[in-house]
Amino acid sequence: MIVARITTLALSLLICAFQVDGKLRRFPDGFSFGVATASYQIEGGWNASDKSESIWDTFTHNSNYKILDGSSGDVACDSYHLYKRDVEMVAELGVDFYRFSMSWSRLMPDGYELSKDGVKYYNDLINELLKHKIQPVVTLFHWDLPQWLQQLGGWSNSLTAKHFQRYARSAFELFGDRVKMWLTVNEPQVFCLHGYGKGLKAPGLDMNGFAEYLCGHTMLKAHAKVYHLYDQVFKKKQKGRVGLTLNASWQQASSNSSNDREAAQRVLEFELGWFANPIFSKCGDYPKIMKDRILWKSQEQGYTESRLPIFTKEELEEIKGSYDFFGLNHYTTRMVKEKSNKSVASKPSFSNDVEVDDYFESDWKESASVWLRVVPWGFQKLLNWIKDSYDNPEVIIFENGFSDREGIDDVDRVQYYRDYLNYLLDAIDDGCNVSAYTAWSLMDNFEWNKGYSERFGLYYVDYNSTIKKRTPKASAHYFKNIVKTKSIEKI
Ligand SMILES: *[C@@H]1O[C@H](CO)[C@@H](O)[C@H](O)[C@H]1NC(C)=O
Ligand SMILES: *[C@@H]1O[C@H](CO)[C@@H](O)[C@H](O)[C@H]1NC(C)=O
Ligand SMILES: *[C@@H]1O[C@H](CO)[C@@H](O)[C@H](O)[C@H]1NC(C)=O
Ligand SMILES: *[C@@H]1O[C@H](CO)[C@@H](O)[C@H](O)[C@H]1NC(C)=O
Ligand SMILES: *[C@@H]1O[C@H](CO)[C@@H](O)[C@H](O)[C@H]1NC(C)=O
Repeated sequence: MIVARITTLALSLLICAFQVDGKLRRFPDGFSFGVATASYQIEGGWNASDKSESIWDTFTHNSNYKILDGSSGDVACDSYHLYKRDVEMVAELGVDFYRFSMSWSRLMPDGYELSKDGVKYYNDLINELLKHKIQPVVTLFHWDLPQWLQQLGGWSNSLTAKHFQRYARSAFELFGDRVKMWLTVNEPQVFCLHGYGKGLKAPGLDMNGFAEYLCGHTMLKAHAKVYHLYDQVFKKKQKGRVGLTLNASWQQASSNSSNDREAAQRVLEFELGWFANPIFSKCGDYPKIMKDRILWKSQEQGYTESRLPIFTKEELEEIKGSYDFFGLNHYTTRMVKEKSNKSVASKPSFSNDVEVDDYFESDWKESASVWLRVVPWGFQKLLNWIKDSYDNPEVIIFENGFSDREGIDDVDRVQYYRDYLNYLLDAIDDGCNVSAYTAWSLMDNFEWNKGYSERFGLYYVDYNSTIKKRTPKASAHYFKNIVKTKSIEKI
């Protein structure tokens, strides 16, 4: 009891410390806030009812692949059973929307028939959200492909786009009366690169320089098919919006030399432009530099054609403009310089195709994740790059957050949100059209290869307790106040 009181006192002092001297900055009228999660990272219930296996079930159960702490998402936060508590937390935060994903293998175990229990689970979750006046935002694919589709080649098989369309149609029919914002796929760049290129994530294929491009190719086609399906069949009646969300870091040139600036631009084109150009640019298709370099390298390596697949004219037209907004997940920044000793490596790889040297400045604050350093100003630069490259689309931030190994006194996360949100407001002052912001994540969860060792949550999860007890961290109180006042102290 005393301990709890002291902790509460410490927390309120901490929050006050961040609020004393600042001038307040307001978010624009109509700006909305949300929090996000993903099915495999929170649901558990991996074999509940008639659910089939997803590639993440297969991957974590196979000891050839490495999850840092040997864990899996079998139980995770047990949101399959505890979704009411999740919604209660979202309501406590006072946000406008909750972004979650649907598990394809739970909803449609064999890809054709619907699961009664799967449908019930997502109906219950959506209805519980609406009861609390929280808008559901649904990601259709957040990395947990049904395993049977993987056995047919997964995203390297272009027929997967057809299966995806069938699944999406069911989701629109079942839930579209209540769900008004849909994301087709989450971070295709990370999924394809890590899952098909480097073998780090499910499905664990290391076919670098080939398979990630096949994966991306099918995903773009699948996204566009689903966009047009909604547009043609559902939009008039359901009046919702459809897009996708792309992950990107800011890439800062290490000097003003034209070589280094070109190198930084090249990484942005390869990592964000790979998916953004075909959809958001006026001409469509992959970035020119990507097509040129991969063709040139492929020829040098003795291949008769480019390792990057080519879209047909019809496909290009279908993909171009297939969006109602630009979804962005952003966490960090890297320094980039031209590679010192370039080579056409005999073994193809994505990184040899891009071919730069990159690094973090040593004084950038670390997080629990090796890939995530705290560089708030990069957020403003990236948003301006998107504004200038894609004719100032409406941008919705669908993920932004910080990892630690701490408990509820998460001072560093509070500071991360304060600083990143200030630079977001600077970008809005620059004319960037950002309409909403989503914190990743509602609660600590299964962080892919790092298992439960890295925590991203606004709520702390005690994985040892049978009820997976969730407790608000200092950052939850802090974020709640931003949402309530629609303002933040100036840094
Ligand atoms: C589900 O998996 C758990 C292990 O996570 C196992 O103990 C249980 O028997 C399985 N249930 C069914 C119905 O297969
Ligand atoms: C996001 O994308 C960048 C490249 O733009 C990559 O370096 C980073 O690891 C990715 N991180 C996440 C969490 O998606
Ligand atoms: C590049 O030039 C800008 C303005 O011309 C300057 O502010 C910046 O410090 C320079 N950057 C580097 C790394 O030299
Ligand atoms: C932002 O984008 C939306 C949707 O396209 C548009 O209605 C609005 O006018 C834009 N706002 C600004 C400030 O450009
Ligand atoms: C959870 O249990 C494990 C094993 O008993 C223990 O090592 C760990 O410290 C516990 N974690 C917490 C947060 O209590």
